[in-house]
Amino acid sequence: MIGMMRTEDLDEILKIEEEAFPRPWPGDYFLSEMNGENFGEVYVDRIDGHVVSYGNIRYMFENCDLTRIGVRKDLRHRGYGRKMLKHLIRTAEEKGCEFMHLEVDVNNAEAVKLYEKNRFMTMRTRKNYYENGDDAYDMARSLINNDPKVILAIESSCDETACAIVDEDLNVLSSVVTSQIDVHARFGGVIPEVASRMHVEQISTIVKSAVDQANIDMKEIDAIAYTIGPGLIGSLHVGGIAAKSLAFFYDKPLIGVHHLKGHIFVNEMIRPLEYPMMALVVSGGHTELVYVENDESFRIIGTTLDDAIGEAYDKVARVMKEAYPGGPVIDRLAKEGKPHYHLPTPKVDGLNFSFSGLKNAVLQLVKKEEASGNPIDKNDLAYAFQETALNVLVRKTKLALEQYPCRTLVLAGGVAANSRLRQLMEESFKDVQLILPPLKYCTDNALMIACAAHHYLKHGKFVGLESPSMPSMSIED
Ligand code: KG4
Ligand code: ZN
Repeated sequence: MIGMMRTEDLDEILKIEEEAFPRPWPGDYFLSEMNGENFGEVYVDRIDGHVVSYGNIRYMFENCDLTRIGVRKDLRHRGYGRKMLKHLIRTAEEKGCEFMHLEVDVNNAEAVKLYEKNRFMTMRTRKNYYENGDDAYDMARSLINNDPKVILAIESSCDETACAIVDEDLNVLSSVVTSQIDVHARFGGVIPEVASRMHVEQISTIVKSAVDQANIDMKEIDAIAYTIGPGLIGSLHVGGIAAKSLAFFYDKPLIGVHHLKGHIFVNEMIRPLEYPMMALVVSGGHTELVYVENDESFRIIGTTLDDAIGEAYDKVARVMKEAYPGGPVIDRLAKEGKPHYHLPTPKVDGLNFSFSGLKNAVLQLVKKEEASGNPIDKNDLAYAFQETALNVLVRKTKLALEQYPCRTLVLAGGVAANSRLRQLMEESFKDVQLILPPLKYCTDNALMIACAAHHYLKHGKFVGLESPSMPSMSIED
């Protein structure tokens, strides 16, 4: 809890000063600031009565100076500096200040980054400002209503329970994911009833750890987002109820995000998206080419007529008696494989896909080899399946770009984690701005839901507490 400094905090503050600053400030200074003798204030964050961090701010009419933020040495890098900074910014705003100024050692990269992320701009460099000869940056920011909005997002559409807290500059304050893969692996695939029960068991813990890790007060959250569809109905419900409870209790607007828009917008973690844009969405439940005219307009121009690509990976792995999920396994096996087996290339006109024929061809091949007593070379089979399937994806994406010229091409969904697909995309699309999602955010997570939710928030697209989950929602809706 952050509160005003008290006399008994002084010893601990001075200890942090000693550890954190080459020229620690004396106790008298803090005492006079505490007593308001210089139009200043000292705030202190305490855990169990002990000082974790403190901050000093001085007011000059509509301007203020942030003179100090100190964090206990053993608790650095845990968001306490950011928390204190946010508190000081809010306090100054409430007092009617319009401008905040500070000086920071140019060599203190971590502090400079923190201030930049919080919208401070460098105004000038002061040469030899510090006693050791270091230069200082003069940094400042406006305090008039321009703080980035913060969203708490929940994802629970399939077999991951996840919560993330992300601001509109896409600073990830926390992102927590638990996967049920170990349990589903025993059954060779996701069992919907088991999945929803596990979401129920996990959801409160996951939300709480996301809030704890972000070190944030619910007051600072601007909206609650969740995956409204598509996905498994029972699983979607659990995340929906959690999000609605939070929105109701804390009186926050509620945002229902389309899961695949999450997969698409997580690419903004790499760089801003430029429109019109083509998205190749490849996940466990979807294979779609989506033409995105702007952040509100999505058109499916190609889709699978039967199995999704991720589903095909999972089924082929099962035929090869490999564990669920099959994608990462086949990705690994194929690296050691060579051209040996021949599989027919799926033939579908236009921009649509089909993978069930390919999957059956793998099954027939395995049966035939087994019947003739030939051991299957799993590496070679994984190679043959993967090359055939991925070449279709690349070919159709090329065709789509010919028909719908775009500035940007993004890859999205769990299969975007595939190393060979990433390589093929890099090789094949040199004339367009290609964005591949960060590896750790390819499979389901809540950060992606938060990234998409910021667009909903910008456009004022909210849902009510009564809105139902939509298991087969289209991205065009
Ligand atoms: O997006 P996601 O996490 O869940 C859905 O929204 O469906 O995608 C999961 C799918 C699974 O089918 C999994 O096998 C596949 O993504 N996958 C991969 C790889 N990693 C995950 N497929 C191919 N190569 C990978 N490295
Ligand atoms: Zn997904």
